[in-house]
Amino acid sequence: MRPSSTLSLLALGSVAQAAVSLEDSSLSPREIENIERAIEARSLADDIWNDIKNAATCTACQGILVLLKGIAVFGDGAFVSVATELCKLAKVEDDDVCEGTVGLEGPIIADAIRNMDLGSDTSKLFCGSFLGLCPEPSVPQWKIPFPSPKPQTGRPAPSGKTPLKVVQYSDIHIDPLYVSGSSSNCTKPICCRPYTAADEPGKSTSPAGPNGDHKCDTPVGLEISMYQAIKNIVPDAALTLFTGDIVDHAIWNTSQPYNQKQISDAYTYMSQYLGIVYGTAGNHESNPTNAFPPRSISNSSQWVYDALSDQWTRWVGASAESEIESIGAYSTKYPNGNLRVISLNTNFYYRMNFWLYQEDIEQDPDGQIQWLVNELDAAEKAGERVYIIGHMPLGEGDAFHAGSNYLDQVVNRYSSTIAAMFFGHTHVDHFEVSYSDYNSRDASHAVMASYICPSLTPTSGMPSFRVYDVDPETFAVLDTTTYIADMTNADFQTTGPVWTKLYSAKETYGSKLNPPVTDASVELTPAFWHNVTALFESNSDVFNEYISLKSRGWNVASCTGDCKTQELCQLRAGRSENNCVVPSIGLHLNKRSDELHGHSHHRSHDHQECGMSAGMKTLGSLAVRKDLLDELESRANELKAKA
Ligand SMILES: *[C@@H]1O[C@H](CO)[C@@H](O)[C@H](O)[C@H]1NC(C)=O
Ligand SMILES: *[C@@H]1O[C@H](CO)[C@@H](O)[C@H](O)[C@H]1NC(C)=O
Ligand SMILES: *[C@@H]1O[C@H](CO)[C@@H](O)[C@H](O)[C@H]1NC(C)=O
Ligand SMILES: *[C@@H]1O[C@H](CO)[C@@H](O)[C@H](O)[C@H]1NC(C)=O
Repeated sequence: MRPSSTLSLLALGSVAQAAVSLEDSSLSPREIENIERAIEARSLADDIWNDIKNAATCTACQGILVLLKGIAVFGDGAFVSVATELCKLAKVEDDDVCEGTVGLEGPIIADAIRNMDLGSDTSKLFCGSFLGLCPEPSVPQWKIPFPSPKPQTGRPAPSGKTPLKVVQYSDIHIDPLYVSGSSSNCTKPICCRPYTAADEPGKSTSPAGPNGDHKCDTPVGLEISMYQAIKNIVPDAALTLFTGDIVDHAIWNTSQPYNQKQISDAYTYMSQYLGIVYGTAGNHESNPTNAFPPRSISNSSQWVYDALSDQWTRWVGASAESEIESIGAYSTKYPNGNLRVISLNTNFYYRMNFWLYQEDIEQDPDGQIQWLVNELDAAEKAGERVYIIGHMPLGEGDAFHAGSNYLDQVVNRYSSTIAAMFFGHTHVDHFEVSYSDYNSRDASHAVMASYICPSLTPTSGMPSFRVYDVDPETFAVLDTTTYIADMTNADFQTTGPVWTKLYSAKETYGSKLNPPVTDASVELTPAFWHNVTALFESNSDVFNEYISLKSRGWNVASCTGDCKTQELCQLRAGRSENNCVVPSIGLHLNKRSDELHGHSHHRSHDHQECGMSAGMKTLGSLAVRKDLLDELESRANELKAKA
């Protein structure tokens, strides 16, 4: 560490002490006076800025934390008010979005910051996630104890019997306040609401059609159209997987009753149109968005679990109720075959669930991993096949390395019992491969495939759903076919969305492998998916086709060089520490209007589509805007002077 950094850290340390002690007043007046003199003598903001310029970014972040603590100790109100002001100054969102979002998530961030120790792993995790200034701390070792050794038997061979159909859709993000004819051109996270008089139908120069727009969430008509299409195209579906996110992206204006109604309405429609639906908890189901506190901290998300339980028990039975109500997860037996579906609450490993930034970080929030191990072990002993479903894919940049590492150990142990894993959250069409050895990521070490279903909401591509052909005995996935409603189709806004097949994995990828994998009865094994990544690597035409399919042909950006390397690395990362994502300083700071739409091609920490946070963007801007740092410092000093 350079001398100036050491000096500034010493000064920072004292302010942190002062900040903490102002609350418990354990410092003597003389000590406080000394600290105040030390602060007056130099500007912390200047030191922090120098550290950032000199690439001492993690040190700089600890300094920013000192300033934030200096605000947070004065209470949630003080923190929310300063953070809202900074959000507006930074112009990360419109003023009303800043007020609403920071008002909702600010108290959770303030709670974490107040309790955070400088230099701790929690503080580094925070600095990495919010400001992009520290690398993620290495995973605290936890070798998960398993009740039984892994059996020698591998994945069972397909039975060759007539396949079943399994449907998946995800990220429906229904906007009940969507108004046809209102403006689709706005500066908020979603448009197609008459936010101002000029946005009203008849006034706007960019009127939204009735059935959806890429700058808006899903109108109810588009939602119903998808359920009807599923019913028509797959009348014989055995079961449906819905991988979460019901509520719209107007996250500055959600509330508990609003979200409860969205959850209830969506599952009611599903129950009217579809057979068995297995759901999972999306990060948008909660209010504030993303807020899922472990029970050891708070039971404030109890209402979400209760709301989900009320809906899910019609399909998973009353026996699953207690697990849903306690951790938002369940394990249930499919009634018509030898399959168990385990739905995980992945919000416990989600970077934007600010309740997780505790001192100390919980190793296994609410014991979900331990519970999962017990469920899988019982399933294995009973000879059952298992599908794991969840909202956030476990290899994403959004997934904490620690939780992802622990779950990867479980997936490796039970890789002969788990037939496949299914997720959503990213809104794009892709997959992730898990390996038994991440230093040898090849076909022989591939142990699991995660299927990531593109969204219904059109914000990052054409509205989509998937159909899997699966073996009726082993539940192995034999093929996947993705359907879309093409929004460029002239009929889309008039006679209505037309749902058509976009592609199938065997036709588009399997046929180009060497040797080809096209036989209808052959499983798409983890090794198959690894081989597809190798095909992408060597064949740029197939890779470009994949990139185009990711957003279902909409706003396709070219992906070569580093972009391609990053993309391949992500596909080969069922475990997030191996996804090659590195935090970038300040993360992303522009509001939606400035962002390239349809960008969602795995930029590092691309939260825009999955769960935006004005608080995160605001704090991130402190790492790139000296004027905001100065403002933060002067607010901290003002509060201290008043105390
Ligand atoms: C969207 O609104 C902005 C600001 O009002 C305007 O400059 C732009 O031309 C509009 N774009 C379209 C496509 O109407
Ligand atoms: C906020 O939500 C309420 C319903 O909870 C709705 O009446 C209001 O129009 C919404 N405001 C905006 C700006 O969308
Ligand atoms: C949450 O916990 C508090 C006590 O900590 C209890 O009074 C309250 O009833 C609980 N709420 C729910 C919904 O379980
Ligand atoms: C994957 O590729 C390897 C090497 O080309 C080949 O031996 C293996 O059979 C392939 N596996 C599958 C499932 O296609």
